[in-house]
Amino acid sequence: MLAKIIEPYVGRTGGLISALRAVQAEVGYLPEETEAVAGDLFNITRAEVKGVISFYHDFTREPKGETVVRLCAAEACQAAGGRQFVSEVEKQYALKMGETSASKDITLEPVYCLGLCSCAPAAMVGGRLVGMASAAKVEKAIERVKR
Ligand code: FES
Repeated sequence: MLAKIIEPYVGRTGGLISALRAVQAEVGYLPEETEAVAGDLFNITRAEVKGVISFYHDFTREPKGETVVRLCAAEACQAAGGRQFVSEVEKQYALKMGETSASKDITLEPVYCLGLCSCAPAAMVGGRLVGMASAAKVEKAIERVKR
């Protein structure tokens, strides 16, 4: 199955990253065998594939929740009450950063600047930016994403 997803990208400029993105979009994460299959098809070592996977934070080795909630933990957001905001969201969903709910509906993860520093604290819910974020705004954003 992985080979079928990866194969169309072999020989293209930036093909490995596109192939990894395609696998993640199709499977939801990058299974362990991705390194071997991609390495064989692109004729590169597993270590090279692993290097690319580990360099980009958007690649994940484990399935994430249906909605990924990214909370900014960088300086501007921290200066605007980001730590308390993160703590409130963690408490609201009984999750710590990096965890996925047992029902697999939400994953909380840190992000280091969303380019929304002027509206700190910031979050990204299911790919949508939330400025001047609060736990209540995150909850509403999650509801919108689920519709
Ligand atoms: Fe949080 Fe830039 S520091 S969006």
